[in-house]
Amino acid sequence: MPKKDKWNLTLVLLLILGITGLHYGTTASPWAMHDFYRRLYYIPIILAAFHFRLRGGFISSALVMLLYAPHLLLYFGRLDITVINQLLEAGMFMVVGVITGYLSEESHRRELQLQRQVSQLMKMDLLEKKLRQSERLASLGQLASGIAHEIRNPLGIIKTISQTLHLEALETGEDSLAEGLNIIESETDRANKVIKGMLDFARPEPLQLKPTDGALLLSDLLAIMRSLSKQHQVKIESHLQPVPPLQADADRLKQAVMNLLLNGIQSMENGGTLTLTLEKENDHLAQITITDQGNGIDEKTLPHIFDPFFTTKDGGTGLGLSVTHRIIEEHRGTIDVNSHPGKGTAFTLHLPLAQFRIEEATHET
Ligand SMILES: Nc1ncnc2c1ncn2[C@@H]1O[C@H](COP(=O)(O)OP(=O)(O)OP(=O)(O)O)[C@@H](O)[C@H]1O
Ligand SMILES: [Mg+2]
Repeated sequence: MPKKDKWNLTLVLLLILGITGLHYGTTASPWAMHDFYRRLYYIPIILAAFHFRLRGGFISSALVMLLYAPHLLLYFGRLDITVINQLLEAGMFMVVGVITGYLSEESHRRELQLQRQVSQLMKMDLLEKKLRQSERLASLGQLASGIAHEIRNPLGIIKTISQTLHLEALETGEDSLAEGLNIIESETDRANKVIKGMLDFARPEPLQLKPTDGALLLSDLLAIMRSLSKQHQVKIESHLQPVPPLQADADRLKQAVMNLLLNGIQSMENGGTLTLTLEKENDHLAQITITDQGNGIDEKTLPHIFDPFFTTKDGGTGLGLSVTHRIIEEHRGTIDVNSHPGKGTAFTLHLPLAQFRIEEATHET
């Protein structure tokens, strides 16, 4: 019983017992005093009906009747018309208790109904907002990928022509032309990178989630990264423990981890070790950690790293981490970052295991 209810119950009982005490303690006093005491009973009865509704009104008035009735016999010594009249009048306790209790019950019922309606409305509002947001994202995604495709083709043509002219310029010794064409090519590459990032970020297709071998996925990825890491004098250490299958879209998850590995490699300008681990976190989650020994992320930068187009790199698009974040969110996973400026950064992915998702679905149905 809540503390407030306990306190109200004690108050009602004390009042009933106190008033009863007055009746029994003053049997010799004039009857007018008893009329006054009797009316005092309405206070605990109404209190009980307000706090404990119909049950409170009924039980308190019945208790008052039980305690009060014997005292009439004690006072008058016989059951005559005066006593019966008094008893009938005491019947009003029941009437007042039950009516007040009923009204309080009704108002409580309406209040609950209203609360339920409000919470349903709030829920509906939230359910609708998400729908609108995902619809908007989907149409934005379609628009972005349409535009990106259109831009990619002319960019491809510009690059091919520039490469041909570049070769000619080198053959004829036109150095300044060759230099200009070189800039065109690298800028075309940069624009292509932005477009690829936008396409990844705005991709409207849903993930193809299925039970996936995490260790295999990560070792495939490491094979792809090996030559790049060598170029940057970065040693990759991996500790891949066997874990139950992840519920994942292998290609998209590879992309998410690859962006983190690339950032790790890029953060170690003078080389170092990049560590990749896979382990079971608990019965529901697996954990992938990517730790570098790079320049770290300072306090000011940290809140922005997942923002689209936020970058501190000259050739960066700032889309790598937003793509990763989006992919992990779509896997119903989470990302943690732990960074020590000057020492390095660790990104941890917490990803649902396939078994857990199957159990979860069974519970939901
Ligand atoms: N491992 C890391 N160490 C230090 N800083 C990092 C690390 N990972 C991310 N950052 C910071 O977060 C920013 C955003 O990263 P993000 O991957 O989104 O874009 P980017 O790497 O700059 O560009 P892109 O990935 O498109 O080439 C980076 O520019 C960098 O400042
Ligand atoms: Mg990046």
